[in-house]
Amino acid sequence: MQEQQILGVDVGASGIKGAIIDINTGELVSERLRFPTPDPSTPGEVAKVFAALTGQLNWTGAIGCGFPSIVKNGVACTAANIDKSWVGTDAAALFSQVTGDEAFVINDADAAGLAEMRFGEGKGKMGTVLMITIGSGLGTGLFVDGKIVPNSEFGHIYLKGHHKVAELYASNNAKEREELSWEAWAVRFNEYLLHLDRLISPDLFILGGGTSKYFDSYKQYFTVSVPIVPARLLNSAGMVGAAVYAWEKLNALQA
Ligand code: BGC
Repeated sequence: MQEQQILGVDVGASGIKGAIIDINTGELVSERLRFPTPDPSTPGEVAKVFAALTGQLNWTGAIGCGFPSIVKNGVACTAANIDKSWVGTDAAALFSQVTGDEAFVINDADAAGLAEMRFGEGKGKMGTVLMITIGSGLGTGLFVDGKIVPNSEFGHIYLKGHHKVAELYASNNAKEREELSWEAWAVRFNEYLLHLDRLISPDLFILGGGTSKYFDSYKQYFTVSVPIVPARLLNSAGMVGAAVYAWEKLNALQA
């Protein structure tokens, strides 16, 4: 009988969340723990949080982790919203070492997208679906006919006329930093969506991250013709998707 539960962890710029996930239903089967992201958020400090998290949940077993950078074979390749010393760090090896469990690491927005494709708004959706997580940065998870195209990183595309990458212009951090109203922020975000539409002609946008909770406050400002829905799993999507990713990797390794 294979283990059907995985510890899902979501490393964010401000918090590190973790819960044990039933990968058949996508439901949390433990309490949801949240630790503030250490400052500085160096590999060593984040690893300590991992050890505390697994300890508190009394967890032994596989771990899936969503991480806010391009991730290739467990290695963090960029660091826009996390300490720069992560670049080149094998995050999967580090988390495995500190917990004694097998850890698998995926980009956080890819993880959130996987969860939505499996259990939420993307379920059964063919064509091109783009999950966008709106938080400290802008994360994107790109899916074509249900299959992930990893590390799409459309939060870092330049927006014409603004001389800035999109996440510096239209993330929740930008909204807070510049004290934008919902309308002012949504007009910016709409520009971003129009640009993405021109680039990849998606069939559906799914908006995730904390800002997705307030969808009704700003949806009326969007003019892009692509359907847009808020993520169904809200803030749990990253943890759930990370667990799904680990499960898939484990099964692939055992096959
Ligand atoms: C990072 C992405 C991440 C996003 C959301 C961006 O700054 O480059 O990898 O998905 O923030 O956390």
